[in-house]
Amino acid sequence: MILSENVDRKIIPIAGGKGGVGKSVIAVNLALSFAMHGKKTVLVDLDLGGSNIHTLLGEKNIRPGVGNVISGLKSSLSALACSTRWDNFYYIPGDVLVCGIGELTLQVKNRIIESLIEIEADYIILDLGGGSNYTILDFFLICNSGIIVTTPQTISVLNAYLFLRNYSFRFLQRAFVNNKQVSGLLRRRMKERYQDDRMTMEEIIREISSKVPSVSKKAEAFLGVLQPKLILNKVRSTEDIGIGETLRDLCKNTLSINLECLGTVFESDIVNKSVDTFKPFVAELPQDIVSKTVQRIALKIMQSSNFPKMPLDYDYYSDSFELAQIETENDIAFMQEIQEPNQSQKPMDLNQMLELIRTRQSSMYR
Ligand SMILES: Nc1ncnc2c1ncn2[C@@H]1O[C@H](COP(=O)(O)OP(=O)(O)OP(=O)(O)O)[C@@H](O)[C@H]1O
Ligand SMILES: [Mg+2]
Repeated sequence: MILSENVDRKIIPIAGGKGGVGKSVIAVNLALSFAMHGKKTVLVDLDLGGSNIHTLLGEKNIRPGVGNVISGLKSSLSALACSTRWDNFYYIPGDVLVCGIGELTLQVKNRIIESLIEIEADYIILDLGGGSNYTILDFFLICNSGIIVTTPQTISVLNAYLFLRNYSFRFLQRAFVNNKQVSGLLRRRMKERYQDDRMTMEEIIREISSKVPSVSKKAEAFLGVLQPKLILNKVRSTEDIGIGETLRDLCKNTLSINLECLGTVFESDIVNKSVDTFKPFVAELPQDIVSKTVQRIALKIMQSSNFPKMPLDYDYYSDSFELAQIETENDIAFMQEIQEPNQSQKPMDLNQMLELIRTRQSSMYR
């Protein structure tokens, strides 16, 4: 980990463990929300093998990107930043022009990380691919403020949990890289495949401490540094937040890490349309509720002078999940309010449908 709380320039990686949960859509719209607030923002496409940021922005696939730095054709990422039709908003394409890039060597990863740190911007957003290979984990571990995106679907939440498990192991492994005994024990525990065999992080630290006593305090302090954030995407009701809370509790109880919720984003056709038309929704339809939810997440980050600490007012709610619950309830009430006056939007009942078919038929055969 290189960057932590008290730096002006924020690097925010976005991962999810699972493919198709909305990482790229959120990365694009969150980055654009920062730019629309006057913050210089660079979005980096680090989904190696699946880069698509240029498509989501409606840009041609002709510019060199991360793949060219990986293959050594270009030396710096900063020089590859492309301007867009929006002020303050730049993107660095992925590896679309260079084939066959998979898991990176430590040397190449370090070169990319050094190059990312050189980028001059207020916010640098990293769109990572699905899964949790070492390349994704190491990019996610650039800082302690990475965002996990999940949908409320059980499989996606499970993958988010497994990602966070691998992430905390990888972090400890790297922290104790010079202590062969500790990193060996961690590696062994990380490989346990079956849930029943898995020990909690607390138990693992206790086990290691019984062999290497000095580890205990250090490991706990290291884990306290990790402050991953959650965005629940494709939410349909306030009940969906319950599964986010389950994930929070699982992280606390088995991994000893605190997961906080940045907010929820509704499932909406607006998102699909914006993907199909290559027009990010926060710019195209800034007043729509789905744009408001992403803008609100951007505001929470911008308002936090030392993100990942969250600007929360504990007089009103106990934690970030309760705040997300209140926000989502308000959003749903707002959506119902704007839909109710328009009675014609109610679904047709069977008689109305039959009547419509009858009038259509009679007009066709007239
Ligand atoms: N809030 C939402 N409402 C409706 N559809 C959504 C929402 N968020 C994402 N989608 C849809 O889900 C699909 C996948 O989105 P996206 O490409 O951002 O996922 P991803 O996690 O980046 O996938 P990958 O792992 O393949 O990179 C897209 O078709 C997008 O339109
Ligand atoms: Mg993606």
